[in-house]
Amino acid sequence: MKNDHDISGFELRLAAHAAEVEQLLVTLLDERPRTGEITRPPRLMAAIRHGALNGGKRLRPFLVTETARLYDSTPDAALRVAAALECIHCYSLVHDDLPAMDDDDLRRGRPTVHKAYDEAAAILAGDGLLTYAFDIIADDATQLPVKTRLDLVACLARAAGIGGMVGGQALDLMAETANPDEAGIITLQAMKTGALIRFACEAGAIIGNAGTEERERLAEFGSAIGLAFQLADDLLDVTADAATMGKATGKDAAAGKGTLVGLHGIDWTKKQLAGLVAQAEDLLAPFGEKASVLKEAARFIALRRN
Ligand code: IPE
Ligand code: IPE
Ligand code: MG
Ligand code: MG
Ligand code: MG
Repeated sequence: MKNDHDISGFELRLAAHAAEVEQLLVTLLDERPRTGEITRPPRLMAAIRHGALNGGKRLRPFLVTETARLYDSTPDAALRVAAALECIHCYSLVHDDLPAMDDDDLRRGRPTVHKAYDEAAAILAGDGLLTYAFDIIADDATQLPVKTRLDLVACLARAAGIGGMVGGQALDLMAETANPDEAGIITLQAMKTGALIRFACEAGAIIGNAGTEERERLAEFGSAIGLAFQLADDLLDVTADAATMGKATGKDAAAGKGTLVGLHGIDWTKKQLAGLVAQAEDLLAPFGEKASVLKEAARFIALRRN
């Protein structure tokens, strides 16, 4: 089938990186028990692999790798941190799709984990991926100083947990009846989606042992593109079809989800996206040419078609 736009150099780079992440995840998610583990139950592993392999844009891991590349850091260590973050993201999707949450049957063009297996398997697959993420970072195979690994674990825990993604998912569900205003929606989106994307960008600075100012700057860059990411997701829920997205669309308004697209409409959202890209690019200015791929990533996120 012919694409309605040419594949850009950026998309090729993203795809090449996705293949590297995939390869590492395949190894990490095999059935061989690691030191301290007793067995890896085959059906649990199959459900986990269903939720984590063969799909996804792998954008968060790409951001870890590309921000780490601003520094003289070990690419192998960055890739493991990237894979760990993707495990958290995949867990969040497996649980997000459960009947008690968004109740979705399709994800990444395939049945959701609870459809392919069952609800208990999907809950446990998510739990397994969540825990494993911290294992991957803490493991000596992630060749970074112990203090760096500890900083990454603490930062990821905050981003993924109560005051981050999990809290955001709680606010998102409450918003179906609470009708939050603009500020409320921005807060819930900064948490449910923004926090993991912010972590992706901050992780590169932590891996690279950056100073406080640069670490904060990259984290802010992550927040700006994180908000853009969810705005684009909400826009695509209105404008795109399930075949393109690999997941159901047109569901947010029906479910009464609090989104800015719902509050302000499509044109406003597109302007907002352009503003966020400009803000993200400004934040990268001090890095000069080195940050050109990250600037493209910001544009890709805002203008993405799936
Ligand atoms: C979807 O994330 C969930 C949101 C946070 C909006 P992605 O659009 O990154 O999903 P995959 O990983 O590419 O499938
Ligand atoms: C999901 O947001 C955010 C997380 C999984 C943390 P959505 O519910 O909008 O994501 P999709 O549209 O199902 O991918
Ligand atoms: Mg949701
Ligand atoms: Mg959902
Ligand atoms: Mg959505």
